[in-house]
Amino acid sequence: MAEEMRIVLRNYGKIDPLEINDYIALDGYKALEKAKAMEQALLIADVKKANLRGRGGAGFNCGQKWSFAYQAQADQKYVICNADEGEPGTYKDRLIMENDPHTLIEGMAICAYAIGATKGYIYLRGEYPFLVSTLNAAIEQASKKGFLDKFSIEVRSGAGAYVCGEETALIESIEGKRGEPRFKPPYPPAEGLWGKPTIVNNVETFANIPVIVDKGGEWYASIGAPSYPGTKVFTLTGDINNRTFFEVPTNTTIYELIYKFGGGIPAGKKFKAVQIGGTSGAFIPTELLKTPVAFDAMSEIGATTGSGAVLVLDETRDIVDVVTRIAGFFEHESCGKCAPCREGTARTHELMHKLNEGFGSSEDLELLDRLGRVMSISCLCGLGQAAPAPVLSTIKHFNADYYAKLV
Ligand SMILES: Cc1cc2nc3c(=O)[nH]c(=O)nc-3n(C[C@H](O)[C@H](O)[C@H](O)COP(=O)(O)O)c2cc1C
Repeated sequence: MAEEMRIVLRNYGKIDPLEINDYIALDGYKALEKAKAMEQALLIADVKKANLRGRGGAGFNCGQKWSFAYQAQADQKYVICNADEGEPGTYKDRLIMENDPHTLIEGMAICAYAIGATKGYIYLRGEYPFLVSTLNAAIEQASKKGFLDKFSIEVRSGAGAYVCGEETALIESIEGKRGEPRFKPPYPPAEGLWGKPTIVNNVETFANIPVIVDKGGEWYASIGAPSYPGTKVFTLTGDINNRTFFEVPTNTTIYELIYKFGGGIPAGKKFKAVQIGGTSGAFIPTELLKTPVAFDAMSEIGATTGSGAVLVLDETRDIVDVVTRIAGFFEHESCGKCAPCREGTARTHELMHKLNEGFGSSEDLELLDRLGRVMSISCLCGLGQAAPAPVLSTIKHFNADYYAKLV
């Protein structure tokens, strides 16, 4: 296999995740010590310099987000780790939590010190119940060793809704309410959990923090693509020889992911399409495989880096059928709070189903395209805004597959 660059997975397979001394022996919690000796503003400035952008999907600058919460005046602030990982085909956060829970805890503790928070939550995907004890054991060990000071961390399990990965729906869920997104602004760093300044970051984002603090923001910013530096963990699924995970610098191309790391398409078949970033990712054709996986480069081709899920399809796959199933997923997962998503996901699924069964007309195809474009600008949250991406990208790049099914 091609060579990886491991930052967040640096300790993978090297330590016993339930043994804090293993983590300490590999310089664990040194970054937290270093961070605590720095002024909060300088610490945040270094994280900003690293230009670490959120690995949960939206790609927001982490240091920038921290600075908003740091500047907010409040008697209580919170740090939340988004470990909902509900994106089908993604398991990168599980890899980190399962194999190196202390890197996450250290990252959260550094954030807590930086913004002045004393309470943290790990919002864990409901389907990961086996991780509750791992995380609780690691939190207890870190606390007993005195690394957490006054900062306490609680593990909260989600109930399995995809929308609860959206940060404000997640906050509602922690507050004991139905998991539905809030209107924004205000954003969580200003008004989050129980109305207090709150940082929500992804597991992989937090796992980068100890290394950034240890080696410096400048070092991190020099890795990979300058506009989205560092590494990214990808999980490969579908028609690919190596159905596994990789951590690679962000200037790696999609082509390299599939052929160098993934080992190409099995059984001598040809590549047809790849969907990157999870269910709401665009489908990418052969012509665009030279695109780097960095956030901005992907945005330019109408795609996303997203969660890092990579679904490869070979030439035998029926794209229209695959997208119909995805449309069914979004209809099911729409929380129903806003009309464009509630109605849009249902109508999209209905139209996709009609086309897939061979009863659709070119007018239906046009309507589907228009509906998708309206949803992407009118839905309340990222679920409805991104749900049309598989439809729109396949109508654009795999138009012949749709035309072959028209009446
Ligand atoms: C429908 C939906 C699901 C999401 N699921 C997740 C998730 O499972 N994990 C995650 O970290 N971010 C998820 N996000 C993104 C979060 O809203 C938020 O941007 C992220 O947690 C911020 O952390 P980061 O800046 O470290 O990426 C989701 C967003 C949407 C709209």
